[in-house]
Amino acid sequence: MSSLCESNSSSHGNGDLVEQLASGFKIALQGAFGEAGTATDPSIKVAANPKFGDFQANFAMGLAKTLASSHGNHPKEIAQLVIDHAPQSLRDLCEPFEIAGPGFVNIRLRPTTIANALTAMDNSTLGVPNAKGLRTVAVDLCGVNVAKQMHVGHLRATIIGDTIARLYERLGWKVYRQNHLGDWGLPIAMTLAALRRAKIEIARVTLDDLNTAYRNAQAQGRDDEPGLAAARATQVGPHRIAELEAQHEGAAVALADAHDTLRRLQSGDTSVVADWQKLIDVTMCEVYETAATLGVDLKPDHNRGESFFRDRLAPTVDAFVQAKLAERDAGALVVRFADRERPLLIQKSDGTSLYATTDLAAVRYRIQDLGAERVVYCVDARQRDHFRDVFDAVRLIGWTKLPSGSDAHLVHVPFGAVLGPDKRPLKTRSGENFTLKALLDEAVARGRREVRARSAIPESPTAGMSSDELDAIGQAVGIAAIKYADLSSDVARDYVFDLDRMVSFEGDTGPYAQYAHARIAGILAKASGRDADCPIALVNAEERALALALLRYSNAVEDAAKQLAPNRLAAFIHELANTFNAFYQACPVLRGVDDATRASRLRMCDITRRVLADALSIMGIVAPNRM
Ligand code: ARG
Repeated sequence: MSSLCESNSSSHGNGDLVEQLASGFKIALQGAFGEAGTATDPSIKVAANPKFGDFQANFAMGLAKTLASSHGNHPKEIAQLVIDHAPQSLRDLCEPFEIAGPGFVNIRLRPTTIANALTAMDNSTLGVPNAKGLRTVAVDLCGVNVAKQMHVGHLRATIIGDTIARLYERLGWKVYRQNHLGDWGLPIAMTLAALRRAKIEIARVTLDDLNTAYRNAQAQGRDDEPGLAAARATQVGPHRIAELEAQHEGAAVALADAHDTLRRLQSGDTSVVADWQKLIDVTMCEVYETAATLGVDLKPDHNRGESFFRDRLAPTVDAFVQAKLAERDAGALVVRFADRERPLLIQKSDGTSLYATTDLAAVRYRIQDLGAERVVYCVDARQRDHFRDVFDAVRLIGWTKLPSGSDAHLVHVPFGAVLGPDKRPLKTRSGENFTLKALLDEAVARGRREVRARSAIPESPTAGMSSDELDAIGQAVGIAAIKYADLSSDVARDYVFDLDRMVSFEGDTGPYAQYAHARIAGILAKASGRDADCPIALVNAEERALALALLRYSNAVEDAAKQLAPNRLAAFIHELANTFNAFYQACPVLRGVDDATRASRLRMCDITRRVLADALSIMGIVAPNRM
């Protein structure tokens, strides 16, 4: 099993079971076939259908091919021979093996095996392995542009990035969150210049003022339609288009002014720098507030904006020139690739650098200075080409090499758009982009309404709670609704923003998962006095199913991190909530059972509650105890 963590702790839930089975089958394979057996991977997989047991070992067909010349054995016979050589340690774990289909070995674990594995994960790790800070990843998240209001696209860059960072943190990696703010270069100089021209007092400016100024400034640089159309036709990516937009004639005054401002900013003119800093402060103040509302870990400490790399831009360009990887093209500097027409522009003909240049400097910093063996970019799918070019350029120049000699992995996690009910990018009725704040306010209002309505029912666990308490729960529900909906869909896909569905307590939603958690918390609260160390007994099918679902937790976390797919964690959460509900329906916990069964079931409730809370916390979702 390839693992994201080297750890010798022996409580990895499912992973641990698979390893035990695999080592038992290795002994059997060797016993049956000597060297050819030793060289064979037992290939233990979770069974696709519980009818066939819990796991399957799929070695026999491959081994039959290897052995064809010497033995000519049939896969079924091979499987039988291996089973006959199974060591006692393996037999003790499993019910008698069955051979199915062309030669699969169906494995059904004994209840005691499952109970022991579950007992072993019942500690603060919950079976999740830990790399103990020996591995390092940098996660590029948020990436807002200074002077611009955050919109729904930044919601995704922020919460997907945060969840990926949390997944790695949970696995014990050293995680560097990198907020690559758009805070340098022409766009911000245009805004600054526009504000100054409009004589707006920068000390009192609000983010709304900035947003307007930014838009006006952008509009002024956008009147060469044919040139722009050509740039769009070659699909150079939104950033390069924005940069080209800024170059067009016809906005001569605004542009000259912006260039002058940029020059003063870059040369450290104190008054321009002070104004610029103010723009950053105003923007970030709101970003941090939104991050806090969203339960996202984003702090000033994580800022590694474009401006952070300003002194590294010239050396970056120089390095490419020195390495003979950059060539002149009409006065500009470009990096060319063997397999495509499109070059990467790293310096404009006027000698200034671009978005791509900051990204090149940033990768170098992340790998060479921070020591990241993985760099993960949570950025809009429309920047696919940009990252492809940047990554290839970095590989050409060799900056992916780690001191250990291995290569760092660069991965872009391209996410899709958030769509409105009309399946087009989400807009307000007047055609504006929704600001993130407006969306969150609406979601929180809906969550609160939902929670209040429920608390009006006398039997509800929230009946009689204070207004403040209900509001806090409602807020958690509203935010969970938005985050879970986003994180539970395949990140690369567009998804429809449907608040009704998202806040529902039914279906594959955040509130449903939260509710399952609260329900268990309620059961545990009613059971005063429990034995945390009692034996776990797995008698019913539903008990067994719940235990196996819990054992899959470590795999779910590792898998979601490895595939950079938060939706896999969401799928686990949903399945666990469903499995628990089926268990609770079939297996009375508090009443009508003997003491030993009650204790065992309570212990399973407790583990389930902790796993749900832990998994939700990886998504930065609060799990209230009452709902
Ligand atoms: N500021 C950019 C935008 O709004 C996103 C930055 C993404 N990160 C990066 N390293 N380029 O599109």
